[in-house]
Amino acid sequence: MSFVERLVCSKCGTKYEPTENPVMCRNRDLGRLDVVYDYDRVSDRLDRNALSSRKSRDIWRYEELLPVPAEFAVRLGEGGTPLVSSRRLGEKLGMKSLSLKDDTRNPTASFKDRAMAVGSAKAVQLKKSDVAIASSGNAAASLAAYSAGAGMKCHAFVPPDAAAGKIAQLLLYGASITRCRQVKEGEDATVRAMLDAVEKFGYYPCPSFGPFNPYQVEGPKTMVYELYEQRTWESVDVMLVPTGSGCLLTGIWKGLQDLKHLGMIRAYPRLVAVQPEGNRALVKAMQKGTPLEELVPEPYPESVAGGLLDPYPWDGDAALAGVRKTRGAGVSVSDREILRSVRELAAYEGVFAEPSGAAGLAGLERLLSEGEVGRDEDVVVLVTGSGLKEPDRVIEMFGGPSQGGRKKGTRHRP
Ligand SMILES: Cc1ncc(COP(=O)(O)O)c(C=O)c1O
Ligand SMILES: [Zn+2]
Repeated sequence: MSFVERLVCSKCGTKYEPTENPVMCRNRDLGRLDVVYDYDRVSDRLDRNALSSRKSRDIWRYEELLPVPAEFAVRLGEGGTPLVSSRRLGEKLGMKSLSLKDDTRNPTASFKDRAMAVGSAKAVQLKKSDVAIASSGNAAASLAAYSAGAGMKCHAFVPPDAAAGKIAQLLLYGASITRCRQVKEGEDATVRAMLDAVEKFGYYPCPSFGPFNPYQVEGPKTMVYELYEQRTWESVDVMLVPTGSGCLLTGIWKGLQDLKHLGMIRAYPRLVAVQPEGNRALVKAMQKGTPLEELVPEPYPESVAGGLLDPYPWDGDAALAGVRKTRGAGVSVSDREILRSVRELAAYEGVFAEPSGAAGLAGLERLLSEGEVGRDEDVVVLVTGSGLKEPDRVIEMFGGPSQGGRKKGTRHRP
């Protein structure tokens, strides 16, 4: 059963029937086809009580608010990740209440599994044999896993410096990998190559960018549903979101609006987009109040946070709206701050994040020091990807593996 009423292009407003199964706007205007649900019908089945008696812990627990029926899903255990109450780190930062939504704990170790579980289910529903993705690695690795489970071929277009762990996942899940050149003058060669392949070979596009696939955007919404359920619907003051293309933030904002429409939450948290200093076009637009049309893509993005290097925020419109409507903020952080957060998450809480996944914490620390977030506020940081995909980076941070104090000639005892 589907509860989707229609899809509406975010740029030109063209409406589509769900049965048309559109993927991109026919006006080729790079609008995202926002999925609109029939909230009246949804609310007949879904409320706080109904949820509390459901058994499934994965994202399909919220099936009424997803654009594909669960019967088409390859279920690998996406979602249902822990909300860690951050006691030691919270105390170190002098905070009253800090929680970490630990999305490193997904099947392929990033939040992208929420998106790709839904995108791949749509491809299965449409009986597609080949799917295509442009990605820094996490989304591609995820789509490759779901494609393997569905018996589809995944074609991944990745940058030359994609992390080794992500490439290893792609190889093992059987994806075909095309390494494209680095972003140059703001143009992302992975997206160009993916679109060419879609055009030429008829692959189904499934990147984690709304304008090229509107269904997957709905997956990350479930992070919001889960964390409110985990907090037994207690309100949140501030939510920090690592941001590259803005698709995650778009999903988070949409999830919050769903819950408000359904009367399940009363107020929105302030949404904070966190970008690295080496790629902060969207954050600059948020800070200056510039409209998206005037945003200039970062010509040569650079950061240790490889997942946050999209030069152009494909979903920047909704990301901007989410931040503005919740009176949130955009903040950029240095690579040093990001790496400090990687260390702190591990050393204080036992959470092993990659730099892109830890950027939310770096943003929080910056806003605490600037007084933009109060230490008495209720804060949730989204931790979005696992550091196990980039072990070399960690070893480098510590100046190489320790010799363990072994002197030449001594022998290890078991
Ligand atoms: C670990 C991680 N966190 C956050 C993001 C940012 O998501 P988005 O590009 O949707 O803004 C990415 C994107 O690749 C990522 O890999
Ligand atoms: Zn359009």
